[in-house]
Amino acid sequence: MKKIFLYLSATCISLICRAEPLGNSYAQISPEGEVAVASVSPEATRIAMDVVARGGNAIDAAIAAAFTLGVVDGHNSGIGGGCFILVRMADGRIFAIDGREMAPAAATRDMFVVNGIANPELSRTGALASGIPGSVAAFDKLQKLGGKLKFRDVILPAAELAEQGFSISPALAERIAATAGNLAKFPASAAIYLDKNNKPLPAFSLLQQKDLAGTYRAIAKQGPDYFYRGDFAKKTSRWMAANNGLITSKDFANYQVKMRKPIVSEFAGYTLYGFPPPSSGGMHVAQILNILEQFELDKLAPAERYHLIAEAMKFAFADRAHWLGDGDFTKVPLSLTDKRYAQIIAQKISLEKATADIAHGNPDVDIQHLMNKHTTHIAAADLEGNWVAITSTVNTSFGSKVVIPGTGVVLNNQMDDFSAQVGAANAFVLVGSDANAIAARKRPLSSMSPTLVFKNGEPVMTLGAAGGPTIISQVVQTLLYSLNDSMPVEKAMAQARIHQQWNPNLLFVEAAMPIEIQQALQKKGHNLKVWPTMGASQAIQLRDGKLVPVAEPRVILQNQRAN
Ligand code: GLY
Repeated sequence: MKKIFLYLSATCISLICRAEPLGNSYAQISPEGEVAVASVSPEATRIAMDVVARGGNAIDAAIAAAFTLGVVDGHNSGIGGGCFILVRMADGRIFAIDGREMAPAAATRDMFVVNGIANPELSRTGALASGIPGSVAAFDKLQKLGGKLKFRDVILPAAELAEQGFSISPALAERIAATAGNLAKFPASAAIYLDKNNKPLPAFSLLQQKDLAGTYRAIAKQGPDYFYRGDFAKKTSRWMAANNGLITSKDFANYQVKMRKPIVSEFAGYTLYGFPPPSSGGMHVAQILNILEQFELDKLAPAERYHLIAEAMKFAFADRAHWLGDGDFTKVPLSLTDKRYAQIIAQKISLEKATADIAHGNPDVDIQHLMNKHTTHIAAADLEGNWVAITSTVNTSFGSKVVIPGTGVVLNNQMDDFSAQVGAANAFVLVGSDANAIAARKRPLSSMSPTLVFKNGEPVMTLGAAGGPTIISQVVQTLLYSLNDSMPVEKAMAQARIHQQWNPNLLFVEAAMPIEIQQALQKKGHNLKVWPTMGASQAIQLRDGKLVPVAEPRVILQNQRAN
């Protein structure tokens, strides 16, 4: 067995490795083993499996989980946000469904610039922060492409849960408490998440969302038209008009799901399908792995290997800042994923010393609190051959913090993922160029990286992650360890993670990384920032003909501790 494999196995987060990653309430397989689902929520996974019991396939299950997450995990995702979906259908067709938010028609390049400086408050909280949500249209598209059930069948169980209520998890309670000040600014948001004295609802109290249940039921009855042309669009545009927002009924009516061409690349004998712009995920997952394979990975000591991964990430994220944006508005060079370009970058990387960052400023801010606290990923697969990867988000916790009165729907703050100004950092301290400048009907750049993996043309894995730009890093590391090092995916996910996004020029490492490796990385010139844990990935792997779903061990462990 390879040296690196043994070493990394030994350095995996010991508690995480002891957590039970298979067949738990977050990652389930149907009784006959024909459908598997993994999500960050036992309720979402349970409802997905209920839908399977009623004849649904992996596509139905994934959509049911997504709607449920909008109820129980609404700080991360929901129908007020957007998503990217990669799906491999039972008949072999592969689709990349772009349900990313669109800027309203009245959006302008400098809409967040006040007195010459981008004002992050405007792009993160309140009426101007939201793009037109795309998730409802994208889920409907997916359902029509390959679901066995009707759209209403995958929505109504979540509506029921919203109506009946559920016990607030410690993680949700922590997010409500952390954002209570901003939620209090919007009466419909406060009415859901705060008590009569504007105090955050505590963990284990009952959260009922009757308005959200009503919205779900109306979509179940009238289809996406309710959302894009009916009452929901009208209520939202009325609220926007009264609150200096830009979104109109026409913006809703003009929203379109886009069918994109996936980014296809090869790594370690596998074929990877990633999501193209307006996500940066597919491009940079492919680019980083292309750079890594220029080196004799199996001969490297662990610190050298982590150093190399960090350097490859740094070069890729520098390219992200310069080149990436919505491909409908800017020319994104596809050659970023060319193996020859990876060779050029590889020649710039020294195994001895971290490359100095010379191009941009490096604000040394702590962004750890953001990286684990938003977005969600759902993995679903069935033995008929449907493989689904959905990454869905309202952006930062509770998005814009706005709930449109009478709907229960939290609107995203995805406008913050644009570059409000060249060089201005977004919530994740990512900077961008003109390629990601705001324009009417443009989609903001994303890091979401739903990914499908094939061997000899057959699907063998679906995966993705949550956690801002660490999504790219998580997916890279899971693929590296599982495909190159042949680790079972649950072990690959349990390895200590790192993240380097070029700006700030810091190497984020999980605390589980052995101290001697941390010291060796510092010696090579990396400026380390240690985080307790990083990210939330979900995956399903085909092993010996069986579907193996894996939910993020860090999330399971944190929830076990909190309970
Ligand atoms: N809103 C985070 C992302 O799309 O990357």
